[in-house]
Formats: sequence, C-alpha cells, structure tokens
Amino acid sequence: MPTANKPTKGKVNSILDSYGRDPGMLVAILQDIQADYNYLPKESLNQISEGLDIPMTQVYSVATFFKAFSLKPRGRHIINVCLGTACHVRGAGRVLEEIGRQLDIKPRETTKDLKFTMETVNCVGACALGPIVIIDGKYSGQMKTDRVKNLLESYD
Ligand code: FES
Repeated sequence: MPTANKPTKGKVNSILDSYGRDPGMLVAILQDIQADYNYLPKESLNQISEGLDIPMTQVYSVATFFKAFSLKPRGRHIINVCLGTACHVRGAGRVLEEIGRQLDIKPRETTKDLKFTMETVNCVGACALGPIVIIDGKYSGQMKTDRVKNLLESYD
C-alpha cells in the first residue's frame, strides 16, 4: 500500500543506491517506486534518468511499456473487476457499473480523494467463482450489485 503521495528525492536515491545505480536494474527500480506509491511521478523518472545516467526517453519507454506501471496517481486501493467471458455472462458488467456509480469513476480512473482506482482484467483463473472483484489482491467471488456498497465501505 502506498506510504505517501510522492517519494522524496532521498527515497528515490536510496532505491537507486540499493541497486548499485545499475541501469540494468531500471525495471526493478521502477517496480519499487510503483509498489510504494502506486504510480511513477514524473519528478522521480527525471531523478532516475539522472541517477542512472541514462536518457529520459529510455526511462519513459520502459515506464510506458509495462501495463503494471502508471504515470498517473492511483488510489490507495486498486479495484480490478474481471470482465472475462465467464464473469461477464454472470453479470460482471453490472457489478462494474455499480462500482463506477458508487465511486463516480470509469474504468482506469481514480477517485478524487485518491482512495480507489478501478481497473478491469480479463480472466484471473477463478471463473467458477465469478463474477470476481479483486481489491488489493483480495478476491471477492460471486459478486452482486447489492454487495458492492458494503465491500467498498470495508476499505479505509
Ligand atoms: S472470467 Fe473471470 S475469472 Fe475467469
């Protein structure tokens, strides 16, 4: 879970140092920042470019290549709604709509208070339990629209 909105320069420096400022560890460095802050702030990318002595374009192309990385702030809690076929036929679309209605966001958007980001995935291999909603890696199966409010309220 993110610890603050943005890493300080000192925090980025300590991550760079922990990898020996090795440009070959760029993905791991980005993963560490993403894991702590749920996104990659532009200032951090600049600092990584300088700290590893590699062009910003290289940092940026890696940061945009992997779907797991986000350049926009994301919520403290990441909601993934499975829209794979099995979940879809069991009403995943209605669950997605209900979550979006409760939070007033669309897929890939973040609530204004940075509490939730809502995303979609295609089949997470638990089709028998569909529709599946995953929040911060925790699976909730057989999700129904009338359970959405309680589920969301259980997160701080
Ligand atoms: S389709 Fe949702 S888990 Fe397989």
